[in-house]
Order: sequence, then structure tokens, then C-alpha cells
Amino acid sequence: MNVLRQDLQRLAALAEQAAPAADQAVPADPWRPGFHLAPAVGFLNDPNGLCRFRGEYHVFYQYAPFDPEGRSVRFWGHYKSRDLLNWETCPVMLCPDAPFDLHGVYSGSALCGEDGLYLYYTGNVKEEEGDYILTGRESNTVLAYSPDGVHLAWKRLLMRNEDYPPELTLHVRDPKVWEEDGRYYMVQGARTREDAGEALLFESTDKLRWTHIHTLRTEEPFGYMWECPDIFEIDGQQLLLTCPQGVRRRGPGFENPYACGYFPVSGDVRSRCVLGEFVPLDYGFDFYAPQTFTDGQRRLLVGWMGMPDADYKNPTAAQGWQHCLTVPRELRWEDGRLRMRPARELEALRGRIRETAFSGRCEMEVSPMSDLLVSCEGDLSLNLSGAELRTEEGTLALTIREGGCGRTRRTAPVDTLRNLRILADASTLEIFVNDGETVLTAKWYPEDRRRTLALEGRGRVTAYDLQPMNLVRSPAP
Ligand code: FRU
Repeated sequence: MNVLRQDLQRLAALAEQAAPAADQAVPADPWRPGFHLAPAVGFLNDPNGLCRFRGEYHVFYQYAPFDPEGRSVRFWGHYKSRDLLNWETCPVMLCPDAPFDLHGVYSGSALCGEDGLYLYYTGNVKEEEGDYILTGRESNTVLAYSPDGVHLAWKRLLMRNEDYPPELTLHVRDPKVWEEDGRYYMVQGARTREDAGEALLFESTDKLRWTHIHTLRTEEPFGYMWECPDIFEIDGQQLLLTCPQGVRRRGPGFENPYACGYFPVSGDVRSRCVLGEFVPLDYGFDFYAPQTFTDGQRRLLVGWMGMPDADYKNPTAAQGWQHCLTVPRELRWEDGRLRMRPARELEALRGRIRETAFSGRCEMEVSPMSDLLVSCEGDLSLNLSGAELRTEEGTLALTIREGGCGRTRRTAPVDTLRNLRILADASTLEIFVNDGETVLTAKWYPEDRRRTLALEGRGRVTAYDLQPMNLVRSPAP
């Protein structure tokens, strides 16, 4: 192992160990999630390299271990688990320690091989000067190889900017790789010189040499850059998931600084295909850069519960950490749309249950970690310690009246509200509407540890207290 990597890994481990018992919900930090992956110290963004390798789930993530504000270089942090409930924090997997990734080991994905784990990512290099669009940066495609999924054997530069199509700026990143019919494919997000976002498709037979074979784009530009693309087929439907930057803010699903959603794809992504209309994946404040993978049974998605360049504040930065990942969500394509539901494993965290029918107003105290199921007929208004959901003329409005720290209001198109499932953690809300047809993901920071759920309408509520998941640290490298 090279000396710089060893030092960086040790420093990151020391930073994590200096955080007093911060891995679990501790009394000193009322906003630390109990069943979401969040770093003990530092800043987390995109999930990376999601996979199930030799019976274990691996979740890597964009990590700035020394800086809870996220202004410094990125590493790949690492968690693993056999069952999505008992997790282990592993030493950081990838460090910015090579000339081709000096200013950040940016987002990427994993390919499980017979002989080990192959991690593809963007090596970010920034020069002292430049406009950082046409000059002053490098976006390198890098492959890192680990024989056991925990220790790194080598990394190797595969492609540089001059290897990408000539119509592009220097913004090319976030390789997502998969295997199909004995070949390997890679999709990367890109920004053209004309400021249009697109997705580049590459092919390889040996995981090392890649050829650009096709570009997926819309007829009219849809944003100037597509970050974190992902291509897959689900229940017979092909999709391109991506996060377009620069799409005009225009109502439900497009109210955040950057968009996040999917294009249905018809045709062959390798040669000729057409992108259908873009559908937002989430209608809340804090959801970005999701990645999917299959575990042999189903396709799961994990997203970053955050948003780049948002003007709202997360008070946890003052406690030394910021952001978390969403729970793993199961995907299905049903009735012409993508549905997300919490992975069924999470039901094992359910503890005490209370159930009641309501007609008119109803109020109950719930745990800061709760799984709330509400079914209803007609209009509903729900308030969970300052976060309010209300049916309003074909929409469901989320208004955060207390503890939003700048988050105020988002709306989602919902014709008829039939049911809600809310996974509430210490400072996070994942709201699944009508069996996961529509989702709103948001953070909020109620001052009071007690949580009060107030409902108004007609329906039935089932409230489960949730236990925290188990998170242990593996020994320092
Ligand atoms: C998305 C993103 C990616 C990039 C990474 C850097 O949030 O900007 O495009 O690889 O974050 O941390």
C-alpha cells in the first residue's frame, strides 16, 4: 500500500474515533439518525459502489472526513452489512492519493467479479487557474480493484478528457458500470460545449479498455449537465436515472436547485433509443444522486439525503457531521411509473405498536424513530412536530413550520390520497405516498425530543416505534 494512502486512511480513522460514541443515537446529539447511515464525523454525499458482493452488501459514499461543511476533497467512505440491519463501518476505501485523483475521488460504481470487486470512479483534478468548464480541470475515469471488497490492491487510470467525445466540456463524471450478455457497459454524465446534459455509453470486453458507442440525449437540451446517471431495466421497462443540473425551477418536482429523476427509454441504449418525458423521483427537499443495484432478488436504490448548493442549513454541521443516506428502497415498475418502498428488512426494527381509527382530530405521542402507516378517505392534514402534510387540490403539500432551517414548502401531485407511510428518524422524514407511487424526502430538526403526531380527517393510523440499527466500527487499518 502506498504511504500517502496509509496516512490518509489512518487520519480518517482517527477523526472517526475522536467522535465520542457518535455511531449511535446518543443523548448529546438529538439529530443523529438511528436507522440511517450517517458518518460519525465529516460530510457525506452521494452513495457509491452499491453492491452485494460475496453475501455482503457494500455501501460506499462520497466522504469529506475532515470537514463537516463538505468543502474539502472527497474520499470513498465504506459500510458493509449482511442483512441491511447490522452494519459495520470499514476504513475509507479510496483516498485522493494519485496524480489522477488528487482533488477528489468522485462518484462511481462497483462491478462484482469472481476474483474481487472492481470500483469505477471519477478522479477529479483541479488546476490553480481556469474556468473549470473548458479549462483548469481533469475528469479521469479510474478503476480500483479490491480482492476482498475491503482492501485496495491497485488503481489505474482508464480514460482522460481527450478520450471522451470532442463536443464535450471537461465535465464528464460518475461512471455506472454493469455486465450484460458477456460484455461490460458504462454510462457517464456529461456537459457539452453547448451546455446540454447528456449520458455517454461505453462498452468493454475486459473491464479495462472502453470504447464510446453511443450518447443518450433529449431532442431539446434538458439542463446543462447530467450527474450520476444510471441505466437499468425493471419489470420490462428501461430507465435512465439522472440528476440534471440547470433545469428551470418550475413547480412540483422541480423546486430544488437541481433535479433528480428518470427518463423512460425505448429502443436499444447501445445504438438507437428515445428518451421519454422526464419524471421527478422525489418531491421533498433533500434527495439527490441516487444509485441502484440488484442483490439477486430485487433492485434496490439508495439516495443521498441532501442537495448540492441548497441555501438551507443543517445544524448538525456544528456537531461535526452532516448528511445521511436514505434507507435502501425496493423499486418496482407498476402502472407506468416507478415505485419506491422501504426495503422489507426494515420491518424487523419495529417495536411497540399503537393503532387507532380517527374521524376528526386525533393526537398521539410517537417515538423519534417511527414507522407511521396512515390510511385515509378524503382530505387529510397531518402534523409531526412541525412538519405538516396536507391535501390541497390535487397535491400533497409538505410545509415545515418548525425546525426546517430554511426548508419551508414543497408540493407533490397526488390526485387521491389513499395512504402514507412515513419513516421518521431523529432528523429525517421519508414519506411514501400511495404505496410508494410518490415520495417526499426531507430533513427537519425539531427542538423537542418528544414527537407529537396530530391528524385531522378520517382514517386509521398504525404507529410503530423503531429500534436503531446496529452499527459497529471495524478495527482501524
Ligand atoms: C453529485 C456530485 C457528483 C460528483 C460528486 C462529488 O452530488 O457532484 O457529480 O461525482 O458529487 O462529490
